[in-house]
Amino acid sequence: MREWTREERYRVLKSADEITDLHERIIKSSYRQAYHVQPVTGLSSDPNGFACFNGVWHLFYQWCPWGAVHGLKYWYHVTSPDLMHWKNEGVGIYPDCEYDNRGVHSGSAISADGRLYFFYTGNHRDEDWTRIPYTCAAVLGDDGKPCKLDKPLFGPRDDYSEHQRDPKVFYVEEKSRYYIFIGAQSLDKKGRVLVYSSEKLLEGWEYAGELKVPGYEDLGGMWECPCIGRVGDKDILLFSPQYTKLPGRGESTNHNIYIIGNMDYDTLTFSPSSDYRHLDYGFDFYAAQLASNTGDPDSEIIISWIGLPDNHYPTEEEDWEGSMTLPRRLTIQGDRLIQKPVDAVYELRGDKLSADGTLAPVCEVVAGFDGNDASLKLFTKADGSGGLRIDYDAGKMTCTIDRTGMDKRFNTQVGEVLDMPLGSPLKKLDIFIDRSSVEIFANDGEAVFTTHLYPTEREFNYAFSGAVDVEIWSLSSSVKDDFVV
Ligand code: FRU
Repeated sequence: MREWTREERYRVLKSADEITDLHERIIKSSYRQAYHVQPVTGLSSDPNGFACFNGVWHLFYQWCPWGAVHGLKYWYHVTSPDLMHWKNEGVGIYPDCEYDNRGVHSGSAISADGRLYFFYTGNHRDEDWTRIPYTCAAVLGDDGKPCKLDKPLFGPRDDYSEHQRDPKVFYVEEKSRYYIFIGAQSLDKKGRVLVYSSEKLLEGWEYAGELKVPGYEDLGGMWECPCIGRVGDKDILLFSPQYTKLPGRGESTNHNIYIIGNMDYDTLTFSPSSDYRHLDYGFDFYAAQLASNTGDPDSEIIISWIGLPDNHYPTEEEDWEGSMTLPRRLTIQGDRLIQKPVDAVYELRGDKLSADGTLAPVCEVVAGFDGNDASLKLFTKADGSGGLRIDYDAGKMTCTIDRTGMDKRFNTQVGEVLDMPLGSPLKKLDIFIDRSSVEIFANDGEAVFTTHLYPTEREFNYAFSGAVDVEIWSLSSSVKDDFVV
């Protein structure tokens, strides 16, 4: 693994010419994806500024141009008419002010008064590398580029640690006010959410207090990327707790969970109506963000980073890493979120391939089950050995997913085997394969499992035991791998 100096990681990109060769080199990789948003060069991490505006979907990702490393971050901009066909638009927000001199960190978007606004964290660091996070805003100009305000909206509070970032902005009708949730860490290193509110979007922001989430005072040391949304008649709170291990999640200390409940803006209390669940049970899923202004009051749309902080992936050697998940539509059934890939993904289906025991690098596998024990192995060698094992245990109503059988193993210290508990007997797995990622939707979205995976040439086979009925569809490409900076 390459060691990067701070100087290399925080180098400012002066011209696109500096990374043309890098782009030319990485697009030759057999792991570049066909229908997922991925970095034009270097690293993409959190989704940012996700919103629908005038019929166009806007999405940004945290981008570090130089390689698969977390350094100086930009917001890289992509747009889509349908959430599947994405166009590279170039850098959206540059870290070019004193208040964001060490990165334009994560944030969100909202449309109001015929404009699209972005709220982000200006990651300022002093000469002695002390961090001062500012909450900043930008507005989408008529030229289609975000234009920053000339000064931050507010700075950090000194009764919390330096970890205060990732503004999620939203409007609360009943209060006729805008709100911002900020992910934070208390001075005694507990994960928190700080709430700000204002009558106007670009001025008048006041600290309203800390979000109370009864029962969650001790879960994790920092809550990154908090989000709140409404699905049907329930509120949902999403966040990525860090610096803690959670039951059933191996050695990982980074998670992305949700809680269903009720939000009271008078007391700033989110009252859970059931226990938290993992948004995704896979190895590589983090920093999920809900889209704004979807125009649908009954469901929400979510997108997330396929990757985890502190983890390392085989394409780092090629100087790129990380992509966005498929966007998913959220609804609620009982005490769990149902997550389905957006409808447009099914329009990518081409031919139905013969289910002859081989896999294509870009395809969808639909596997039917009868609720009894069964096993499906994807990416095995021709003799059926190795691969990504999916073992369903009917007694426990759980799929166990094991990637130890792959030729390319990675993040072995975090754990390579995880459970995906279901809410009903296994009937269906809808599996989206895109060269270096696999997303498994169980029972029409009852649970989801996302993982990076880097199959080698000899691994494009599958095998199963038990009553498994396999259908395979080719999928067409929907994201052009072009160089726009
Ligand atoms: C989450 C995160 C955010 C931060 C961003 C920086 O992955 O650490 O909290 O804003 O990444 O890239």
